[in-house]
Amino acid sequence: MEHQAIDELPSGKICPQKPPKNFVLLVSVLLLLTIVQLYHPSIFRSLFLSKTIDSNPQVPSTSSSSSSDHSNVQEDDLPSITSNLKCDIFTGEWVPNPEAPYYTNTTCWAIHEHQNCMKYGRPDAEFMKWKWKPDDCELPVFNPAQFLELVRGKSMAFVGDSVGRNQMQSLICLLSRVEYPIVVSSTEDQRFIRWKYTSYKFTLAAFWTPYLIKSKQVTYTEGPTKNGLFELYLDEFDEAWTTQIDEFDYIILSAGHWFFRSMVYYENQTISGCNYCLIDNVTDIGKQYAYRKAFRTAFKAINSLENFKGITYIRTFAPSHFENGMWNEGGNCLRTKPYRSNETRLEGLDLELYKIQIEEYRKGEREGRKKGLKYRLLDTTQAMLLRPDGHPSRYGHWPNENVTLYNDCVHWCLPGPIDTWSDFLLEMLKMEGMRSAEEKKLRITNDTTLN
Ligand SMILES: *[C@@H]1O[C@H](CO)[C@@H](O)[C@H](O)[C@H]1NC(C)=O
Ligand SMILES: *[C@@H]1O[C@H](CO)[C@@H](O)[C@H](O)[C@H]1NC(C)=O
Ligand SMILES: *[C@@H]1O[C@H](CO)[C@@H](O)[C@H](O)[C@H]1NC(C)=O
Ligand SMILES: *[C@@H]1O[C@H](CO)[C@@H](O)[C@H](O)[C@H]1NC(C)=O
Ligand SMILES: *[C@@H]1O[C@H](CO)[C@@H](O)[C@H](O)[C@H]1NC(C)=O
Ligand SMILES: *[C@@H]1O[C@H](CO)[C@@H](O)[C@H](O)[C@H]1NC(C)=O
Repeated sequence: MEHQAIDELPSGKICPQKPPKNFVLLVSVLLLLTIVQLYHPSIFRSLFLSKTIDSNPQVPSTSSSSSSDHSNVQEDDLPSITSNLKCDIFTGEWVPNPEAPYYTNTTCWAIHEHQNCMKYGRPDAEFMKWKWKPDDCELPVFNPAQFLELVRGKSMAFVGDSVGRNQMQSLICLLSRVEYPIVVSSTEDQRFIRWKYTSYKFTLAAFWTPYLIKSKQVTYTEGPTKNGLFELYLDEFDEAWTTQIDEFDYIILSAGHWFFRSMVYYENQTISGCNYCLIDNVTDIGKQYAYRKAFRTAFKAINSLENFKGITYIRTFAPSHFENGMWNEGGNCLRTKPYRSNETRLEGLDLELYKIQIEEYRKGEREGRKKGLKYRLLDTTQAMLLRPDGHPSRYGHWPNENVTLYNDCVHWCLPGPIDTWSDFLLEMLKMEGMRSAEEKKLRITNDTTLN
């Protein structure tokens, strides 16, 4: 009952003839939400934030031509999509799925060495056997044929770091039951590779840009992390992707873990601060500052593109799970089961970075809307927070190998929980068609109510 009232919030504005009883209920729900927000920000996020951002039915829509883009959704999918349009698919629990995984390291060649956990002797397999269950609806398991049908003739770019690549490789593996892509770029460099699914004329591309903005690694051996020092130009585009992205129908944008490194910030071509750099006369102003500016600049780049007509998906921060120390202090991730949502919560720096992303997303989205551009939140944070068991840990390489990230609690084993990001993505692509229809309907309702 309460839930219904929350769902009806957006349309409540448009139907003034609502009985007062509902109004009282609405007020109490709002009050409850405020209280909940104080004590449990992640519940607040799931109940309120993602709904208003994601369903966003009041978006004074963009061109009507965009609504036909996704009209090839199968008829029999429509009922479930209608209900999911009002459901926050990103709040839920992991539930057992004996049918998973849907590929292995022998059926899929796209698994990156460092995420091929079974090859390197990971002893447990239970981490592959879960699926995400949203609290208020079902999230169908990925259907590769349906995905490829929806993206027929389109192009998708993964813009970001190695976690973004991790997601792309997971998608390739999930799609491999139907088709493998061929390389169509002149380079096989995984950082800037371009694939094609020839039967579907679907292009998939990677753009390596761990900071999303112009950056440069500089030699600085005495740095505190001994892991290089990066110069970040917070107000300058990274042209490696911004000049290439116009033609794409979908951009999946993400950034995160590189902001934990030593960085010096430049703005207006002069040093404006740093993170963990220990350089005389340069003030440490924290990673949050750069994270915010990086997203702001990336959105500015997208919103200033001449010909871009695509949808930008912001894949939110996926927390790492080091316990008993950080990555360079012997920390590790040894759990073998997901958390339930009541066993952990987003806090500290992870929460801060997440909030920054949401805030900048909202601003970027607002600016983009003026130009008819669409932004969507691929809000993976809560689901991944609950998966301390999904990382390679020490099974991303042979035991005697000398690698920087010995215990990897940042990336995700393949197969593994990151496969769920494709479940989310497919659901969002399906909802896109419904959303356009709803927006149209709302505009009509609005017109008739007011006249
Ligand atoms: C409803 O109409 C008002 C006034 O004409 C307008 O400002 C608003 O954007 C419309 N809402 C939608 C969802 O179209
Ligand atoms: C796949 O994993 C198995 C262990 O489950 C391992 O023995 C094998 O070497 C791996 N194969 C590849 C191609 O990675
Ligand atoms: C950079 O220059 C602009 C305009 O010239 C100014 O508004 C802004 O505050 C400057 N930023 C920094 C960090 O100095
Ligand atoms: C730091 O500032 C002081 C005083 O302005 C100056 O004498 C010194 O050379 C500066 N050091 C560096 C490394 O720029
Ligand atoms: C979390 O919820 C489950 C199921 O509702 C319950 O069995 C468990 O005791 C709860 N755990 C904590 C730490 O509250
Ligand atoms: C590991 O590699 C680093 C840098 O390449 C080197 O300095 C170090 O000596 C190596 N350690 C071992 C145990 O080989």
